[in-house]
Amino acid sequence: MFVKDLWYFGALSSELKPGQHLHRELLGQPVLFGRDHDGKAYALKDICPHRGILLSGGEAQNHDGETQVECPYHGWRFRTDGSCAAIPSLTADQAEAMDLTRIRVRRFPVHEDQGLIWIWYADEDQADTAPSIDPPKLDIPEGHKPKLVVHDIFNCHVDHAVIGLMDPAHIPYIHRQWWWRSAKSVHEKTKKFGPVERGFSMLPHVPSKNSYLYSLMGEPQTEIRFQLPGLRTEYVKAGGKHFTGFTAVTPTNENSTAITIVVYWDHWLPTIVPNPLIRKGIETFVGQDRDAVNAQQVGLAYDPKLMLIHDSDVQAKWYFALKRAWDKHRETGEPFKNPVRASELRWRS
Ligand code: FES
Ligand SMILES: [Fe+2]
Repeated sequence: MFVKDLWYFGALSSELKPGQHLHRELLGQPVLFGRDHDGKAYALKDICPHRGILLSGGEAQNHDGETQVECPYHGWRFRTDGSCAAIPSLTADQAEAMDLTRIRVRRFPVHEDQGLIWIWYADEDQADTAPSIDPPKLDIPEGHKPKLVVHDIFNCHVDHAVIGLMDPAHIPYIHRQWWWRSAKSVHEKTKKFGPVERGFSMLPHVPSKNSYLYSLMGEPQTEIRFQLPGLRTEYVKAGGKHFTGFTAVTPTNENSTAITIVVYWDHWLPTIVPNPLIRKGIETFVGQDRDAVNAQQVGLAYDPKLMLIHDSDVQAKWYFALKRAWDKHRETGEPFKNPVRASELRWRS
């Protein structure tokens, strides 16, 4: 279903306000994100163990400096580590006789950095094991904060969203717009790839001449990195400055996938272009991908056999191979072996 034992993008730092709750569905599970009164982010399964109401509908309270989530139904309170702190309906002697620490809400490890909140997703029975890998970190200067965020929702399984965003052959068909490229600009391309951590990189290169926007930036170098579970980062660097677009493809459930695009930059070009224009450009692009993937669902409902061809679908093949390799690592405990080999891929786009 979904790859586990990985850090998933959960929320933006800016979405979490102290003392407030944010409800999200992630990997088919309801999750409550919060920020305690000291500013630390936390995440709990958003289901009260008493009678199943969403905890996020209740208050985040401050009890002697400790943040506790109060269930809106019968007022049970939970600490940010998931343990039960109080059941108000108990009489003093009942409370005395009961071990509240046995009552727990699942807690998810979280990590906050670069304006992003990461959540560690393990199988339910492994919920208490510590994360086995470090959280992702973007290769941008320390302290850089998101300049722009675009959200979208694709009505598909995460796999179709991931491969729909990485496949190069759709670009001249789905993304035809005068300020980007025309149908005539299609030509043969050769790109070098190599393995990185739990993914692969389209190694740094001068982008193809058929994008007008890139040529405006001077002589930029771009690198596109993909990492499990569905993290794609496009780095554009020119003259010591950068323009970095991070895309998190996060499964909401089997049939819905959240796309979050977070852009960071210190290059002068985006600085002189009004933000709404950059936003519009990104929204246009991702909207075209969304419309294509949503339209594809009509055909996929008939469960057709699908093809992945060389070389334009090789990245999609790597994605599936990476998932299999990660699952194998989890099941056997053997070190993860990245299945991607350094390669040169050629296609027309
Ligand atoms: S349902 Fe949460 S306290 Fe009863
Ligand atoms: Fe696309």
